[in-house]
Amino acid sequence: MPPIIEAVNLHKAFNGFVAVDGISFQVQPGECFGLLGPNGAGKTTTIRMLYGYSPVTGGSLKIFDEPLEKNLRGIKQRMGVCQQEDNLDPDLSVEQNLLVFARYFHIPQQQARNEARELLRFFALEGRADTSIRELSGGMKRRLVLARSLINRPQLLILDEPTTGLDPQSRHQVWQRLEELKATGLTILLTSHYMEEAARLCDRLLIMDHGKVLVEGAPTELIERHVGREVIEVRAPSPAMLDFLKDKEIEFEAVAQRLLIYNHRGSELFAHLNRELSCAGCSLRQATLEDVFLRLTGRDLRE
Ligand SMILES: Nc1ncnc2c1ncn2[C@@H]1O[C@H](COP(=O)(O)OP(=O)(O)O)[C@@H](O)[C@H]1O
Ligand SMILES: [Mg+2]
Repeated sequence: MPPIIEAVNLHKAFNGFVAVDGISFQVQPGECFGLLGPNGAGKTTTIRMLYGYSPVTGGSLKIFDEPLEKNLRGIKQRMGVCQQEDNLDPDLSVEQNLLVFARYFHIPQQQARNEARELLRFFALEGRADTSIRELSGGMKRRLVLARSLINRPQLLILDEPTTGLDPQSRHQVWQRLEELKATGLTILLTSHYMEEAARLCDRLLIMDHGKVLVEGAPTELIERHVGREVIEVRAPSPAMLDFLKDKEIEFEAVAQRLLIYNHRGSELFAHLNRELSCAGCSLRQATLEDVFLRLTGRDLRE
């Protein structure tokens, strides 16, 4: 089967400023693929090119095995998009927001009503059909935007930071719904800067920065490759500890008063540090995607 998305050397410049600098990736049918990166990395710009909101300034883009520019309307009929901002119509009710959207897809009225009811139930918004948008919490708005993006029963769902700003309960609820959608075979492309979200939902992902791809792979693969299985955290390391690490050429990073030791060698290292270099604040934990992200994109604050 051909990929659902095939982006080759995508490029986007705004008056000479290069926001996306030649990125390539493929998303296979049924896959959940993540675009990760710090603020300003070019995630939203990339996504906007995928649904034709922002014309590419270089490279090529096929969706459903068709060049985007050849059949944008047809392709958009088969995709759902959830933008970074909750762009609901505040003058309409919850249900009306869905029904108005259904008209763009020429969905017959009765069918649209049925779909809307089902989607509201799926996103735990039943009983809210007549509520005004202004009365909804942030989590409810987000769920409604998600519901709206599914009104045309898309085969590809594109989500730009689906859970940013949500409380933990709402976030977990959105994750569950997305997992259920994924289980039905829906292909999903999402951006995120929550590593926990990406590790949980994405089959594969890429980390980008300054418009370029840094790495691509499955979350566990990226963790193995760039960090190792475990991280040893040391508070207030002694000079003897530092000497030992340098002497043995063990990879570590100094962050403020802590050391992060990236351990590719198994648990003997931790035992040794604990026993021989008797460090009080020494702990062992599993390496995470967040370790990968911070190692690759640095710890400096972004815009
Ligand atoms: N319409 C635009 N005009 C000019 N610059 C833009 C525009 N949209 C985005 N940018 C710039 O492109 C870069 C990437 O932005 P964006 O894709 O929104 O990043 P991300 O979604 O990864 O945070 C940023 O430096 C941003 O300021
Ligand atoms: Mg963005």
